Amino acid sequence: MTVDLHSDIYGKEVFADPYSYYGRLREEDPVHFNEQYGIWLITRYEDVAWMVRHPELFSSELYKRDSTPSPPIDESDKEHAAAVAEHRSHELIKNDPPEHTRLREPFRKPLSPKELEGWRQFIREAVASLLDRVADQGSMDVVADIGKPLPLLIVSEMLGVPPGDRQMLKEQAAERMLSELSVKPDRMRRAVTAIRDSSAYFDRLMNARADEPSSDLLGLLAQAEDEGNYSRGESVANAQGLLDAGHETTIQLLCNGTLAFLSNPEEWELFKTDPAGLAVTATEECLRYDPPLLGPRRVAAEDVELRGKTIKKGDRVQWLIAAANRDPREFENPDRFDIRRSPNRHISFGVGIHYCLGQYLARVEGQEVFTALATRFPNLRLATDSVEYADIRAVRSITSLPVAWD
Ligand code: HEM
Repeated sequence: MTVDLHSDIYGKEVFADPYSYYGRLREEDPVHFNEQYGIWLITRYEDVAWMVRHPELFSSELYKRDSTPSPPIDESDKEHAAAVAEHRSHELIKNDPPEHTRLREPFRKPLSPKELEGWRQFIREAVASLLDRVADQGSMDVVADIGKPLPLLIVSEMLGVPPGDRQMLKEQAAERMLSELSVKPDRMRRAVTAIRDSSAYFDRLMNARADEPSSDLLGLLAQAEDEGNYSRGESVANAQGLLDAGHETTIQLLCNGTLAFLSNPEEWELFKTDPAGLAVTATEECLRYDPPLLGPRRVAAEDVELRGKTIKKGDRVQWLIAAANRDPREFENPDRFDIRRSPNRHISFGVGIHYCLGQYLARVEGQEVFTALATRFPNLRLATDSVEYADIRAVRSITSLPVAWD
């Protein structure tokens, strides 16, 4: 591969093997300014962990403080970009304290480890029923047959979305995420249509919750509205935000994880000796080794000195999880997939106040899927020589992962 430090960071070459490129950045220029997209790239574990713990220096208010979309968009897409920004600026992930603290509160308890253990049996049964559908075929596509249906089913169930509406929500979520993930210059037009449709839909569901209280997540948002802690705009944005944040990321934990197991047969053999016993450490290693989210962004809230460089107030900054998780200063043999790795202080769910709200849910889904695959299809193997990634940024999205068993 012929990448250099100035390669297109969203280009296919970097995406096919981000670890070589990020590794060079981490070793040669750990606080690097990418001229093409006007963005700082932070790659060392220590630096990333430090910056994300300082929200007063590195703000999450991307849409309020950074109004120029990057990568650039067409002139005709600009009015749509403004509508997308208005919507997304209500999401808790795009806010700093004190708004962030208020917006995060309703989700804290229902997404806690204790509550999530209560969902494990439901998730186990959902995984079993998805595998039942393909068991006799001797083959499946992990993306289409498990990745896409499972996270959507679970988040929709938690929100309280009726089963008949979930396919529509999935399609809207895919379009909506274009605004965050695509590099295409006309991405905002499609995203804004999906945002409007989903917002109208969630507005109707929230009206129904006002008449008939419920204990699902939408019911908790209705309660927060009643108590004056949430506006309706915030409820509909954060309901969609939960679907967006929990969907493609979890798909890629399941797919990147399966790929890591099957590309490292000795670890797969080891896992099969005790799937239930190894599921926790193995899932953490899948998260570290090939993290679903490559690197979230921040905006500098003031001038910051880091490793002799000055990041100016208003500059865009991306902290690269995929680089920090392979930093040899933090992890022994970082390029080795080691399902018993311990300790494993990966930062795939972030650090600090924005620490992933859905991390326990994603973990349970990963543990249950990997355990079920090893138990039901012990001779599972890859049924392809090459893996394609979607033309998007930030999430390393496998488009299809054919596997087979006897
Ligand atoms: C393997 C799957 C997942 C990964 C790798 C992941 C990763 C992350 C990361 C890195 C952050 C921090 C972003 C930042 O600091 O800017 C984050 C935040 C968040 N995640 Fe996840 N996530 C996953 C699954 C989920 C799920 C299943 C849900 C919801 C059901 C979810 C909901 C959220 C929310 C709401 C935030 C914002 C938290 C805040 O700003 O306080 N995530 N996630």
